[in-house]
Amino acid sequence: MTGAPPETANEIGFDRVGKDFPLPSGRTVHAVEEVTGTVPAGRFVSIVGPSGCGKSTLLAIVAGLEGASSGTASVGGNPVTGPRRDIGMVFQEESTLPWRSALRNVTFGMEVAGVPRAERARRADAMLSMVGLAEFAAERPARLSGGMRQRLAIARTLALQPSVLLMDEPFGALDQQTRLILGAQLLRIWREVQLTVLFVTHSIEEAVLLSTEVWVMSYRPGRIIDRVPIDLPYPRGFEVVGTDQFNAYANRLWATIRRESLRGFSDAEEHPMAEQPT
Ligand SMILES: Nc1ncnc2c1ncn2[C@@H]1O[C@H](COP(=O)(O)OP(=O)(O)OP(=O)(O)O)[C@@H](O)[C@H]1O
Ligand SMILES: [Mg+2]
Repeated sequence: MTGAPPETANEIGFDRVGKDFPLPSGRTVHAVEEVTGTVPAGRFVSIVGPSGCGKSTLLAIVAGLEGASSGTASVGGNPVTGPRRDIGMVFQEESTLPWRSALRNVTFGMEVAGVPRAERARRADAMLSMVGLAEFAAERPARLSGGMRQRLAIARTLALQPSVLLMDEPFGALDQQTRLILGAQLLRIWREVQLTVLFVTHSIEEAVLLSTEVWVMSYRPGRIIDRVPIDLPYPRGFEVVGTDQFNAYANRLWATIRRESLRGFSDAEEHPMAEQPT
């Protein structure tokens, strides 16, 4: 690589992004409303918020998989109009290819992208080792556990060397220990290759441990109701968990999210499963 990329090269931007889903019943779900914000190039922003508040929807809009109903999402200053090779996404649900071996799952995206064979093999080996699956390279996903399949999906996305990485609960299916180990590895890669990461998680601890900033989304329609810069030095290890500074961040995030989660449930009690025409 020659020369530093311009500061905005990998920046993610939201300008008053909204998303409505019209339902066949005539009702409209206001999933996301007026989301404005920036993930500067090379930063790691996590989004936390109650279930159903629009986190996956927001990532899908940045990934170019869903169009915004209003406003604009952009990457590197260019509005996103469809999927792009420089934007990598790891989905909340498992997304491995069952008929391919683990190794060929990782090479798949690179084949599509036209990466030469030798380079594909080199990167696939490195990525499988990184997620702890080197020994399982020849196995089909059905022979792996759910958590291993999710690690495989992460390896496949990282092998494409995206400049922007969108991750939707990537460690959700994993035990706490594996979560922490993979989180630390993700941080290492992020720092090494200067990725811009937008990361959705249910775990406040994980958000504080990994992020340069945490955004809290409100109950539906999802808005950003708090932005907390996490001023802990990198490299960050597990030893930071439980320190006073760490707890202060976690407590602040907890307080906001607990209020929002309760709001979601009291709403549901008032209108149990009701479909309201708009
Ligand atoms: N394709 C769709 N059609 C209709 N409604 C949708 C669609 N996708 C999402 N929604 C609605 O948009 C809202 C936000 O959904 P989203 O999946 O973004 O939530 P989330 O914050 O990711 O939740 P979770 O934490 O449970 O994954 C929900 O009310 C959901 O029902
Ligand atoms: Mg989701």
